[in-house]
Amino acid sequence: MTVPVILDVDTGVDDALAILFAVAHPELEVLGITCVAGNAALDQVVDNTLRVLDAASAGDIPVAAGATRPLIAPARSASHVHGADGLGGLALPPTARQARPEHAVELLRRLVTEHPVPVTLVALAPQTNLALLLRTHPEVAANIERIVVMGGSASVGNATAVAEFNVWHDPEAAAIVFDAGIPVYMYGLDVFNRVSVDSARAHELEHGAHPVGRIVGELLGHRIAMSEDEDAQYTGLIGDAGAVCSIVAPDALRTERRPVRVELAGFGRGQTLVDRREFAGEDLVHGLVDAWPVVEVALEVDAGRVAGLFLDTVLALPASSQYS
Ligand code: RIB
Ligand code: CA
Repeated sequence: MTVPVILDVDTGVDDALAILFAVAHPELEVLGITCVAGNAALDQVVDNTLRVLDAASAGDIPVAAGATRPLIAPARSASHVHGADGLGGLALPPTARQARPEHAVELLRRLVTEHPVPVTLVALAPQTNLALLLRTHPEVAANIERIVVMGGSASVGNATAVAEFNVWHDPEAAAIVFDAGIPVYMYGLDVFNRVSVDSARAHELEHGAHPVGRIVGELLGHRIAMSEDEDAQYTGLIGDAGAVCSIVAPDALRTERRPVRVELAGFGRGQTLVDRREFAGEDLVHGLVDAWPVVEVALEVDAGRVAGLFLDTVLALPASSQYS
C-alpha cells in the first residue's frame, strides 16, 4: 500500500535529499511538490527542485511555486547555510522541466481534493503555502491524512536559541497548521540533528561511480547545521530526508503525543512549546490557557537505521540521462 504524499519544500540542500528519497522509495507516491521561499528565494527553490527531479529520474511530478515570503514576517533567507544557490554550490545541469502555471495553493487544493484516498502533506519548509491552503480552502482538511512537519523542537533551536528555522521563518503559518485540527507529526530538531552519514562514506559516494551517489555525497558534505564541535566542517546530516524516512519507518523513532503551541511573540518567537508535564499545572487548573493542539512529537531516533534506509533507497535510483 503506497502512501500518497505532497512535499512542500524550500530546496535546499536537505530538501534535495528528501526529494531524492521520496521519489526513490517504493512505498511513497509523490503526487506533487510545492515550493516556498526559505532556504533560498522562491525562483531559486523552484529551479533547484526541478533539477533535483531530473537527478532522481522522476516521472512528470507536478511542481508549483507558492509564497515568496512569510505571512507577516519579512523574508529572511538561510542562504548563509545553504549557499547562494540553495544547494551548497552543487551545479546540477539545467533542466527542461517546468513548473506548472498554477499557484502552489491551487496545486495543493487540486491534488488533495482529487485524490481517491487521504493524502499526507510533508512540510519541509516554512509552512506559508500550507497555511494559505488551509485558510483559503479549509474543506481540503477532509482528505488530508496527516501533516508530517520537519519543524520545531522540544529542546534546542537553530534559527534562534529556542526556535527552529522553518517555524521561526513563518510562525503564524506554523500556528495555523498546528491548530488546524489535522493530525500533525513533528519531526523536529530533537531527531533532525541526530541522523547523519559518516564523512568517510559521504566522501566515498562523492568520488564514486554512482551518479546519484556523487550528488548525495556532495550534498551531505555541505554543513547545514552547527555540530557539537563548532570547528567541525562536516555534519553529514540527511536533514529533511529523515522526516520522509519516518513515513516508511515509523518504528525507527520514539514519539510522544504532547500539547504543542507555537510562540508568536517576544524572544521566544517561533519556538514550539512542547508540554511534557505528566500533570495539569496552574495554567490549566486556573483556566489561564486554552487547550493546546496535541501533536505526535518525535523525540528519539534509531539514527543508524534511518541513515541506512536513506542511503540504500537513494542509491537504488537509476543514473539519470544527464549523469551517465
Ligand atoms: O531547520 C532545518 C530546516 O530549515 C530544514 O528544512 C532546512 O532545509 C531548512 O529549511
Ligand atoms: Ca527545508
